[in-house]
Amino acid sequence: MNNKMNFSGGPGALPAEVLLETARAVEALPETGISVLGMSHRSAWFRGVLDEAESNLRTLLHIPEDYHVVFLQGGGSLQFAMVPMNFLRGANRHAEYIVSGYWSAKAEKEGKFEGETRVVWDGKAAGYTRLPGLKDLHLSPDAACLHYVSNETVEGLEFSWVPGLEGVPLVCDMSSNILAAPCEVEKYSLIYAHAQKNLGPSGVTVCILEDDF
Ligand SMILES: Cc1ncc(COP(=O)(O)O)c(C=O)c1O
Repeated sequence: MNNKMNFSGGPGALPAEVLLETARAVEALPETGISVLGMSHRSAWFRGVLDEAESNLRTLLHIPEDYHVVFLQGGGSLQFAMVPMNFLRGANRHAEYIVSGYWSAKAEKEGKFEGETRVVWDGKAAGYTRLPGLKDLHLSPDAACLHYVSNETVEGLEFSWVPGLEGVPLVCDMSSNILAAPCEVEKYSLIYAHAQKNLGPSGVTVCILEDDF
């Protein structure tokens, strides 16, 4: 199979066996004789696909029981808006953002539509060439949440540590480094990642949410 690697800032190549299995499933599923595209998304068979995907993710990332895993549409960009819609609107508190590159700047811009945002670190003046250390961040304990991007895809800046303050919900866009290394899910209230870089084809976004949040 001629499945060339894509090194541009877009979807990663899926393994050949995944593509072959998908191609067979689009034609007709061996178990049912129906194309996966013609199968009801509410059927028990398809529920099994979703359950298996969730269970694999839970195993690989050691996701605790008190976290939900949801598969959504709209990509990483919709999460830039959905997060403040859900957790900043009407909160009477501000949200904090680490602006470390192109994508976190976009996220902060969306936050402003829903309430007060505070940029706790901004790498723009330095041309987004470095990330902050713990002492660079001035975090407040009463923030509604702290948002950051663990790997700035455009600039190629990846956090090697987890920022945050005890008691402040931590929200992270892991679109371009989820599953690249183990991650301590319990440090986060919400992790989101679009699928197309590290997990699968574009069109699916995964959110891992702490139930309390
Ligand atoms: C870290 C990061 N967040 C968000 C996005 C935007 O996601 P989407 O294109 O799925 O809206 C991208 C790139 O596409 C990204 O690399």
